[in-house]
Amino acid sequence: MKTKEENARVPRHVAIIMDGNGRWARQRGRSRLKGHEAGAESVRAVVKACKGEGVEYLTLYAFSVENWVRPKSEIDGLMRLLMRFLKNYEKELHQREIRLRIQGQLEDFPVNVQKEVRRVVDATREYGAGQLILALSYGGRRELAHAARTIAREAAAGSLDPETVDEAAVAARLYLPDVPDPDLLIRTSGEMRVSNFLLWQISYAELYVTPVLWPDFREKEFKKALREYAKRERRFGDIAPKHRHSAE
Ligand code: FPP
Repeated sequence: MKTKEENARVPRHVAIIMDGNGRWARQRGRSRLKGHEAGAESVRAVVKACKGEGVEYLTLYAFSVENWVRPKSEIDGLMRLLMRFLKNYEKELHQREIRLRIQGQLEDFPVNVQKEVRRVVDATREYGAGQLILALSYGGRRELAHAARTIAREAAAGSLDPETVDEAAVAARLYLPDVPDPDLLIRTSGEMRVSNFLLWQISYAELYVTPVLWPDFREKEFKKALREYAKRERRFGDIAPKHRHSAE
């Protein structure tokens, strides 16, 4: 049983840039798809660990809007993998009462993939205690452009006064406005980039970059990231509490 203090240090929302599948495969002389397959096992492991550790929201960068330029064979393989993952994994989502949601432009995907994704999203809609959010054909700038377009339309239609457009108005028009901002952003494979991921939402997120490649990022590595997060002091622009006394 965790103390109240420890629970407060568990991030409510973790977002992950899953990187390094290709390198993991190359190191083993295997195809890139084998790397993605091993990466899908890490997805399972981390979703399970979230439930165990009390993380409510997990957002995974599964396919960026930039990924469409990859070779067709790799894209086709990723689509097949996503279909297989949903088929095999649906039972576990029900067992753990996890709601699957999508962030991004699912319309870009082949119709059969869209159908399967929507089916599982619908089947798990009632679960509230844990959410797995897959970013699919997602781009942070695109999401912000979408919010701006929505605001412009409402203003043009006369239902929104431009003078009232503030941060909350933008946040309310993102793809998933009810989801709290990530507290922790993890990137695997050591790259120091945010790669157009959740640009608005990560403003105050703690960053954790690990050299571990995504297929090797399982429960142990995830718990390590949570421990590191628990040690961080989040200030949201304020000064450190320990200096507050001398500053006043
Ligand atoms: C990045 O590694 C990974 C991706 C672009 C795809 C992510 C997909 C998975 C983790 C597997 C399937 C996911 C689900 C939800 C079933 P990379 O290919 O860019 O690696 P590299 O930089 O080493 O080449």
